[in-house]
Amino acid sequence: SGTAVGVDIGGTKIAAGIVSPDGSVSMHSRVGTPSGDPVRMADAVVELVQSLGAAWTEPATSTGAVRPAALPVGVGAAGIVDRDGRVRFSPNVPGWLDHPLQEQLSERLDAPVAVENDANAAAWGEFRVGAARGAGRSAALLTVGTGVGGGIVEDGRLIRGANGLAAELGHLIVAEGGVKCECGNRGCLESYASGTAIGRTARDRVRDGSLPPDSELIALEPDELTGVAVTRASQRGDEGAQAVLAECGSWLGVGLANVVNALDPEVVVVGGGGAQAGEPLLAPARAACEERLVGRDYRRVPPVVPAELGEDAGIIGAAMLLLDG
Ligand code: BGC
Ligand code: NA
Ligand code: ZN
Repeated sequence: SGTAVGVDIGGTKIAAGIVSPDGSVSMHSRVGTPSGDPVRMADAVVELVQSLGAAWTEPATSTGAVRPAALPVGVGAAGIVDRDGRVRFSPNVPGWLDHPLQEQLSERLDAPVAVENDANAAAWGEFRVGAARGAGRSAALLTVGTGVGGGIVEDGRLIRGANGLAAELGHLIVAEGGVKCECGNRGCLESYASGTAIGRTARDRVRDGSLPPDSELIALEPDELTGVAVTRASQRGDEGAQAVLAECGSWLGVGLANVVNALDPEVVVVGGGGAQAGEPLLAPARAACEERLVGRDYRRVPPVVPAELGEDAGIIGAAMLLLDG
């Protein structure tokens, strides 16, 4: 019927919903991410999908028949996922290693299941029905959340690489020898421009006393200084919060320059909490990106725009990827 379940497994929560062919989502539901233990992870997804399936019935046909559906299930997972839908490694979900999630879910749910990287799924969602829908045939997406995810559409198709592991844009190295990343390397874009990094930068700037004295961030406890708290303060006009976003936004721009130099996409979409942070993050990112583009005065610079699908991007994209085959 062109309808599918979409599931988005992140570091803190698993979100799911029923996705219609036009990309609209109904019956949102979510649970906390249990831990990286593969068994508990699969259990949590199975329970979530079964509860959705139990509650959902196809619209009554003309004969009045209503039957419970065994809908196909598209899953986006926060980690590197190979072409067989096996989660190999997840920087921000410790212990989630070498897990044949697609195989286990399709057996247990007795339905077609496709598992993709979460940011690849979000990129597909934004490309099909979100911020990049008018973009022609190429787009790059970066999600700024717990980590930094990447997704690349080229010639109307998602770039997966030889093994499915491509488009890990959060682990582009922007500062060799720099801050340690959860992936084990140093200097990854994710360590400078994720929501986690925004929180860490805020704590650093509070500690070194460089924020304006009236910044509301100064009164917060270190564990309250999260990316979300910085974004909220920025939205209230807090200049200290805006300075933190500008600092991280500039790093984001360094990453974007590498992406644009490599891919020359029609448009760059920034999603996750980064889209909520808006211009205080994106304007410095654009400036830092443009400065570093090869031939910058003699070329087209792609627009850098916020995502439009919000928290649903991964759900929508995972379902649509499966439906689009
Ligand atoms: C992971 C990616 C994931 C991103 C967002 C990164 O740390 O390496 O696979 O897409 O976080 O969840
Ligand atoms: Na990706
Ligand atoms: Zn990394």
